[in-house]
Amino acid sequence: MERDGRQWVVAGAGKVIRSVIRGSGSALPRRVVSNAELAAEVDTSDEWIVERTGIRQRYIAGEGETTATLATDAARKALAAAGVDAAEIDLIILATATPDNTFPATSTKVQHALGCHGGIAFDVQAVCSGFLYALTTADSLLRTGSAKKALVIGAETFSRILDWEDRTTCVLFGDGAGAIVLEAVDGEADDDHAAGLIASRLHADGRQHDLLYVDGGPSTTQTVGHLRMRGREVFRHAVVNLAEVLNEVLEDAGVSAEEIDWVVPHQANARILDATARKLGLPIEKVVVTVDQHANTSAASVPLAFDTAIQDGRIKAGDLVMFEAMGGGFTWGACLARM
Ligand code: UT7
Repeated sequence: MERDGRQWVVAGAGKVIRSVIRGSGSALPRRVVSNAELAAEVDTSDEWIVERTGIRQRYIAGEGETTATLATDAARKALAAAGVDAAEIDLIILATATPDNTFPATSTKVQHALGCHGGIAFDVQAVCSGFLYALTTADSLLRTGSAKKALVIGAETFSRILDWEDRTTCVLFGDGAGAIVLEAVDGEADDDHAAGLIASRLHADGRQHDLLYVDGGPSTTQTVGHLRMRGREVFRHAVVNLAEVLNEVLEDAGVSAEEIDWVVPHQANARILDATARKLGLPIEKVVVTVDQHANTSAASVPLAFDTAIQDGRIKAGDLVMFEAMGGGFTWGACLARM
């Protein structure tokens, strides 16, 4: 195989393998918590949260609900939507920063729960960009023939690493999971309208480690720790980094911003979504917004938003969809796909 711009080409044959999105699913905890309910416990208000973030409610995991149970639920729905049997899955990548255990990988718990044994299963830890990292990694493994059918999942229980005394962070996050089934499909290299992932870019910059992190871990404090964030600085970097990476992917794909049908972004803050859309010159109507319903669910937010727009019929076959996210590390990335 050789690389021809944005895709791997089987030398001489003009053939490519593309990773095609076959179906999606999502899962939310039973309990929904409104801003007003939070304001009864924390020194905040519905007005402040809505004005600064766009968030109106979030889902919070209760007893018996974990990252693995939510991920399994979302994965089962994605398999059903794709018409794929769990036994056909030979790759599971689960993006999470809130695993059930320090090890083994939560993806192996999901694999066991689904009853598909023997394939590849591992977790990816890139916080809010985790789904983009997982998607790009799955795409690479599918296109190089290491697997044929993948489950790519983003699942989190951030409520369990929040400091509920810290109003600057605890109002922002929620729990949930989203999943997609990705299948390796043979196609012609010059078919510009074929379904599949087209181009993706990932980045990390560890210099910004301390702007968004958890103050615990097995190798440092031997505790789980709590989320800490310097929100204003993160906001500033997010808008710049996302606009840059979106332009990189558009350039790699040879596509203009106007050709995009839908942007499915990480749902951290409605103001970041507005600012990024403005920088790209895209109308906000093309951006899938779920931050009002789910709050920031870290690695789960992109697949949760994607599944929402699939379920309500906004995203259709043939659409060009841009996924993007930015989070702790910093890490960030974007991926363009044809449905
Ligand atoms: O998912 C990974 C990526 N994460 C993000 O992208 C998050 C990016 N950052 C943000 O979304 C925003 O910066 C926040 C929503 C976190 C904060 O909004 P902001 O407009 O940057 O507010 P701020 O931090 O500058 O705080 C403004 C004021 C402060 O009061 P003073 O110092 O002006 O008197 C805060 O103490 O708002 C106060 N404040 C609150 N008031 C009521 C902070 N949190 C709250 C709260 N309720 N929950």
